[in-house]
Amino acid sequence: MNPLTVKINDHLTYIGVNDRYTHLFENMWPLPDGVSYNSYILDGGEETCLLDCVKIPSVGEFLDNISSVLNGRKLDYVIVNHMEPDHTSSLPTLLEIYPDIKIIGNKKTTRFLKNFYHITDNIIEVKEGEEVQIGSTSLTFYMTPMVHWPESMVAYEKSTGILFSQDAFGGFGTLDGSIFDDEINFEFYKDETIRYYTNIVGKYSVQVIRALDKLAGLDIQMICPDHGPIWRKNPEVIIDLYAKLSKQETENGVLIVYGSMYGNTEKMAEMIGKSLANEGIKNIRIRNIAEYPLSNLIAESWRYRGIILGCPTYNVGLFPPMDHFVRTLTKQNMKNHTLGYFTNYSWGGGAEKEFAAFAEKCGWDLLEAQPNVMGDPKEADIETLNQLGKEMAQALKEAFKDEY
Ligand code: FEO
Repeated sequence: MNPLTVKINDHLTYIGVNDRYTHLFENMWPLPDGVSYNSYILDGGEETCLLDCVKIPSVGEFLDNISSVLNGRKLDYVIVNHMEPDHTSSLPTLLEIYPDIKIIGNKKTTRFLKNFYHITDNIIEVKEGEEVQIGSTSLTFYMTPMVHWPESMVAYEKSTGILFSQDAFGGFGTLDGSIFDDEINFEFYKDETIRYYTNIVGKYSVQVIRALDKLAGLDIQMICPDHGPIWRKNPEVIIDLYAKLSKQETENGVLIVYGSMYGNTEKMAEMIGKSLANEGIKNIRIRNIAEYPLSNLIAESWRYRGIILGCPTYNVGLFPPMDHFVRTLTKQNMKNHTLGYFTNYSWGGGAEKEFAAFAEKCGWDLLEAQPNVMGDPKEADIETLNQLGKEMAQALKEAFKDEY
């Protein structure tokens, strides 16, 4: 047995890999702690089955893991619960080594297999609730569309209560040392799980809620996702976290994101932060949009009820990094926020109009004070900045009455 594979029970072995080389997930989202691509071999006695694959650069290690677990036995099936290439780009190589294996997917998987890899043979399409026998064990399939792609589905092993959940219940971060929730400190992984959820899956939170409702009827004893820890002891921890994130239950706090060319807008951000603190708000984050990663800004926006955005006018509109940020937020379908904004200009405005258009699009509660300052803030400007802080503090005190 390869020491890097892990026996989960008598019939199931973890054969996934850690990726500490890829800098950007989907070529966009930073991976400071890396990521794991989880894969499993289910041994049903007479038949064997692989559940999801790994990203192509790790194919050598992956194939070694498979052959060490099979130990000369035949591989009969590969289940493709999710088609995104972090789980399938090694599939064509796998088929070269094991040409007779049958691929289990659904109708939508078939289309992706053809379009991504020209694979058209040996495909078994399963439908919602269908059960497939793998030797002496069986798997039941449930469709979870848009968690994270249209073809996404999960497999459930009834006799052990194991859910193979693909992207759902996953997170960023390599599995360092142990793969099991009860042998790690999840606090190490929590922020990276939240960042994964908000960056990758968050936009589809309505579909996540639907999937969670569907899976609530199953007796889930263990969750084996495609990224992050295997939840064999306390699966309810990750189920609860996903439920909280998908319902967009925001926390008491304020994220102030500013862009500043010459320091005036930064000064405005600091003044608003001070005003919030004077009003008793304790959780305040002030982030410079030019320095702080978009990925983390999305995660923090998801987290805090209060969001205050500020930037100078640039080419009669928003400072470009802020323009990109508000467009991203608009597409995230985020809810349960109170919004404030402030702007600065040197000779003519424009940013304030684009913030107003953003406020209308996202539909969050909007604060009335909207400071628009020419250059360095003057006394009257400081009053308006304080007013913005006061209004946000008031909104938070109403939303989180129990905490005051
Ligand atoms: Fe881990 Fe949507 O891929």
